[in-house]
Amino acid sequence: QWRERADSGACCDYSLHVDVPRWHESIREELEALVRDKGVNSFLVFMAYKDRYQCTDGQMYEVFSIIRDLGALAQVHAENGDIVEEEQKRLLELGVTGPEGHVLSRPEEVEAEAVYRAVTIAKQANCPLYVTKVMSKGAADVVAQAKRRGVVVFGEPITASLGTDGSHYWSKNWAKAAAFVTSPPINPDPTTADHLTSLLSSGDLQVTGSGHCTFTTAQKAVGKDNFTLIPEGTNGIEERMSVVWEKCVASGKMDENEFVAVTSTNAAKIFNIYPRKGRVAVGSDADLVIWNPKATKIISAKSHNLNVEYNIFEGLECRGAPTAVVSQGRVVMEDGNMFVTPGAGRFIPRKTFPDFVYKRIKARNRVRPDPGGAGGLLGPGSPPGGSTSWSAWPGRPE
Ligand SMILES: *[C@@H]1O[C@H](CO)[C@@H](O)[C@H](O)[C@H]1NC(C)=O
Repeated sequence: QWRERADSGACCDYSLHVDVPRWHESIREELEALVRDKGVNSFLVFMAYKDRYQCTDGQMYEVFSIIRDLGALAQVHAENGDIVEEEQKRLLELGVTGPEGHVLSRPEEVEAEAVYRAVTIAKQANCPLYVTKVMSKGAADVVAQAKRRGVVVFGEPITASLGTDGSHYWSKNWAKAAAFVTSPPINPDPTTADHLTSLLSSGDLQVTGSGHCTFTTAQKAVGKDNFTLIPEGTNGIEERMSVVWEKCVASGKMDENEFVAVTSTNAAKIFNIYPRKGRVAVGSDADLVIWNPKATKIISAKSHNLNVEYNIFEGLECRGAPTAVVSQGRVVMEDGNMFVTPGAGRFIPRKTFPDFVYKRIKARNRVRPDPGGAGGLLGPGSPPGGSTSWSAWPGRPE
């Protein structure tokens, strides 16, 4: 169903990952089918949204073990949903109903703790982990430290955490404040973006997402009298490259090659579509951005290509902007004018066991003494008395 929707509307190539919103008995079969027949190689679990999508630690361990067996990538929405719910109740009881309640109910520690727990569970299950939406210094530090200890973990700050801050939740203009509502929230600490861009530049964080998911003011207004009901999500897809260039390259933290890595190549490697994507070479797809480092642009809702009233980066001046965009060899944007064809974008299936991610996981499986299934190679379905050598396991996809 999602492919049908996307196939008719996509203007550029796309791929799909799948959320695992609830635990159930046939989850292994479903994930297997998605991997085998549908070209999906990443699955997201939620540690927040209690009584809706939230996973227990035990369920996460099981899902991660399945994902590892399949050679896919575990993604996580990392926030402690139990604590968030308690804080939401407390704030509503105190009479806090506005968007500031959103950020007050989701303090930084609640994000950092969940990232730490996700890393712990992923390490126990020997499953690679991708932390979506790294929004705070605390969460980013946990990813960086885990990576330095050798955990196979990738952290993804998004345009919102790199380009603005959470002070706007206290705006007197409700619609503006509501436009910033997303989870984990945009951190009110104004030094967050600088910290995240430093970690990106040093390689502790390796990818940048857009986290793009917008709602109009009318849609956000469902939560007018109750911040827990405000639909979550911000803009970021149109601004991502300019924000990263401004904060990382124009500021002198990164060179142009590192910029290409964190905006394109690393993601292509992690999600196993490299070198078809993420590389300029004969044989790779002709998806190109012609970048003008001298251009400057002030981001504004007055000029953005979105049908929402607010832009969370309003007024941010960015050095660096695209002059032209080429998709599948066709110019689809030039000097601000779009020439896109809905439906021209192709679905890109993704294979399992990306080398960039799984070389290390496989090596660890080989060296690890496994007393029979405690999260190692000898999970369910492994040969009786099987060898712990990866390649000696017949039928194992390589
Ligand atoms: C706010 O919405 C939540 C559901 O998210 C509900 O449980 C709660 O009772 C509502 N509180 C108020 C004060 O409207």
